[in-house]
Amino acid sequence: MSSNLRKPLIAGNWKMHLTLAESVALARTVKEGSANAPGEIAICVPFTALSVVAEVLKGSPVKLGAQDLHWESHGAYTGEISASQIKDAGAQMTLIAHSERRRLFNETDAAVNKKIKAALAAQLIPVLCIGETLEEREASRTFKVLQTQLEEGLKGFAPTDLAPLVIAYEPVWAIGTGKTATPDQAQEAHLFIRKTCSRLYGEAWASGLRILYGGSVTPENVDSLMSQPDVDGALVGGASLKPVGFLRIVHFQSPAGAKR
Ligand code: 13P
Repeated sequence: MSSNLRKPLIAGNWKMHLTLAESVALARTVKEGSANAPGEIAICVPFTALSVVAEVLKGSPVKLGAQDLHWESHGAYTGEISASQIKDAGAQMTLIAHSERRRLFNETDAAVNKKIKAALAAQLIPVLCIGETLEEREASRTFKVLQTQLEEGLKGFAPTDLAPLVIAYEPVWAIGTGKTATPDQAQEAHLFIRKTCSRLYGEAWASGLRILYGGSVTPENVDSLMSQPDVDGALVGGASLKPVGFLRIVHFQSPAGAKR
């Protein structure tokens, strides 16, 4: 499997944090501190901060993302935001199916599938989040859960449609808990995801697919995670709110030649 195709991606997920002034300040720090980083960088911010952060990031390679979207392009959907509105606010990507949305807002794989379609239609990079709960891992159901989330979420596309897609493997038990997956656990899951994607949409697509790890990524553990052959980046929650730590994560170090 060729791995030279995959440029690493480090994405911050700010979740429901920061005022507009704090968002502008953090975005500015990320922009200024990310020169010479080994991969691409993105920050996924609350809807309300998209426009102001877009202004800060103008002309910078740092990508801007939303954290969710609605699948319809417009209409009577009070409280929802469409892909074209996100694009119009200046974003280039969006998270989809974060486990907090699946768990707290009952997001189903069928809805996830429609959201991926809507993001692609609006030329937003979809970052599809998948991952198992602790209960599922302990019942040896991790692979089954990942397989279902992939098969249902990615149903009905052609491989060419999915070219921009990114997958984030976020074991639910590792999110916000300080319990990171070991590099071996992350590699095992990422390899399974890549093989499943290869079976679904062919090896050419799967070998170019970027698979990020998320769940208690810190400046201390990012290098060992990024050293794994199928870990192509990180989706960072809590640590993305701390400027010095996030910049260290963005400047991760891994053995040369593994993926880049
Ligand atoms: P933490 O990095 O805070 O564990 O959050 C991970 C996450 O949910 C990123 O989307």
